[in-house]
Amino acid sequence: MKALTDKQKTLIDELLEKMTIDEKIGQMNQISPSIVGGFDVSFEELIEMMTDGRISKEEFNNLMAGAKQDFHDDVNRAGGLGSVLISDPEIVNRLQKIAVEETRLGIPLIIGFDVIHGFRTVFPIALAEAGTFEPELFEKTGRIAAKESRASGIVWHFAPMIDISRDARWGRISEGPGEDPYLASVFAKARVRGLQNDDENPENYVAACLKHYVAYGACESGRDYNTTSMAKSMLHNTYLPPFKAAVEEGAATVMAAFNDLNGVPCTVNSYTLRNILKESYGFDGFVVSDANAIKECIIHGIAEDEQDAAIKAASAGMDMDMGTWIYSKELKPAVESGKLDIAYINEAVRRILSIKMRLGLFEKPYVTEEEMHRYDKLPKEHLAHALEVAEKSVVLLKNDNVLPLNKTSKISLVGALADIPEEVLGSWALSGRAKDCVTIYQGLKNAGADVLYHPCCGPEGEINEIEVQAAISEGDVIVAVVGEFASMSGEASSRADITLPGKQQEFLKMLLDSGKPVVAVLMNGRPLALSWENEHLPAILECWHLGVQMGNAVAHILFGDVNPSGKLSCTFPAMTGQCPMYYNSPKTGRPGSKSKFTSRYLDAPIEPLYPFGYGLSYTSFEYSDMNIQEEKDCLKVSVLLKNTGNRDGAEVVQLYMHDVNASIVRPVKELKGFSKEYLKAGESRKVTIILSKDQMGFYDDDAVYHLENGKFIIYIGGNSKECLEQKITIV
Ligand code: NOJ
Repeated sequence: MKALTDKQKTLIDELLEKMTIDEKIGQMNQISPSIVGGFDVSFEELIEMMTDGRISKEEFNNLMAGAKQDFHDDVNRAGGLGSVLISDPEIVNRLQKIAVEETRLGIPLIIGFDVIHGFRTVFPIALAEAGTFEPELFEKTGRIAAKESRASGIVWHFAPMIDISRDARWGRISEGPGEDPYLASVFAKARVRGLQNDDENPENYVAACLKHYVAYGACESGRDYNTTSMAKSMLHNTYLPPFKAAVEEGAATVMAAFNDLNGVPCTVNSYTLRNILKESYGFDGFVVSDANAIKECIIHGIAEDEQDAAIKAASAGMDMDMGTWIYSKELKPAVESGKLDIAYINEAVRRILSIKMRLGLFEKPYVTEEEMHRYDKLPKEHLAHALEVAEKSVVLLKNDNVLPLNKTSKISLVGALADIPEEVLGSWALSGRAKDCVTIYQGLKNAGADVLYHPCCGPEGEINEIEVQAAISEGDVIVAVVGEFASMSGEASSRADITLPGKQQEFLKMLLDSGKPVVAVLMNGRPLALSWENEHLPAILECWHLGVQMGNAVAHILFGDVNPSGKLSCTFPAMTGQCPMYYNSPKTGRPGSKSKFTSRYLDAPIEPLYPFGYGLSYTSFEYSDMNIQEEKDCLKVSVLLKNTGNRDGAEVVQLYMHDVNASIVRPVKELKGFSKEYLKAGESRKVTIILSKDQMGFYDDDAVYHLENGKFIIYIGGNSKECLEQKITIV
């Protein structure tokens, strides 16, 4: 997005001069259409009901087709709306026409929507895409999503979701880049660039919205919307870095989180919104609440009524109200009675207007008929990218010489998930279309496989034993697609047990009893506890929800046309009871070991099943000759990487460090850099990763950043567990 020109700045001053207080407050009001006629649920709630599976997409569409939506045209005409949450381009144009041509000042609306991992072309969920360790891919998926949504008049994505999440029980872990602050920061920056940086063409960029600010992923026990509590050092070292990085990259907007942080809901938290975001980080865009969150401050027990909630939110730095109409009703009386300084309102409106100007909305508020239909069919280039990202997101968890499959083998494909088109999309893919989805069954057929399909069993319901018998008798090898429905992750989808849901484990046992090789292909939106599967199955492929090209990508990997290279962006615990489990935990005085009086459970392993950064390949890599060269400002850490197998492949070389002796307890390991290397079979390469000394510090509990001299251990390797290491002293 371009910076404001002097002319635009003057225009904003002039507008602010002319605006009445009602018109100003109108800019701070974001609505969803109210649904009228027979049921009393807001459009947004309906979307959420569909997202969390309470109603299907089909039911949602039927409801919308039959329902009358009230877009509050009169309020719009009076200048009472600043933003609407919708996706239908015809409606966008109609509402925009009222705002631009019928209001006194002609200020366009900013249309926002949940475009989380693609608009029409749906890409892998972010948790999977982060596992590519290729931020350039994430930038491009953002660019494509921006292009596609802008053609529908949507100029503001409620993305990227960059909540660090260390608890696999939390359903929303699927929406973000995983557990590591460094990886998440790199990916957050890339997505902001992808969404916002096509300066040449206003049709191609949108405003990003960093969410959920902040520490939403630290909800206690992984239960959605639950309380969060942590020291400031933890907040600044772990949960804030992706937000800081993305603000530095120029992110236009931020969405506050639902949760309270140390007792203050993020919606009214002046420490996080004003002190950190706006003052310390210098964020110059605007902040929107999460849906209904200003009202929920009353339920939190932190505001006595709607006016109190409005005053607390506006004075904390909340610029726009999503969906409650509380600003609309309460800000004016609060100013008139002297309870709220109008300066807060002026500041919010200036921020909102400046983003609208920078988006080019004053010049081009509408979409043309041609644009509306531009992506009725997905362009080849978008599909090619969707395929590449999907292939690179797959993580090979286990392989006892079963994969890749021989193209001449007869495959018994089983599992209900293998052939339900919309399931490949994953959570929050509201604009994806079933007609664009390639299921795994379809993908195998496209690849020319000799495949017979029997659903047999899904994440819910019973096992169809007749189908199981047929599947067992037919194939040379069984490919079992198991995991979670898309609705089992995402918002409001926490699980207290993260093993395979339903009867799928029993189903896998029946398949194994046949004596035939069984390959598990996992479709899921969170780490699962797979100890039993790991012990008994010869091969496990983590395929997540990979988007529209899922089936083709999985087929290419199964047959070895593509060598898997994805790595885990989140730890896979061995048991649910280990949650929250993450690789970069603070070092205890008694690290878990065989001895009883150490930090461990009596009835669970100490280690996770698969650590952060883990992922196999059809080839193998060897690390040797680690070397550290110290320069004035950095360490140059190098290693010799060799592809020791007989296939070409890619490896993510990961650099970690541990501060051995610091003034506060530091994590056992912290990712500080990575490099993805493509090596031919037999090829060797010296790989060097730069660790800047600025990166080696930490925040203390007063949020002060320290760079301390002393001993460090530097690690380099192919995952967070298995690394070469060397000590170094920095003076
Ligand atoms: C609630 C979700 O928490 C948020 O991520 C989303 O952007 C809004 N609803 C709008 O749909």
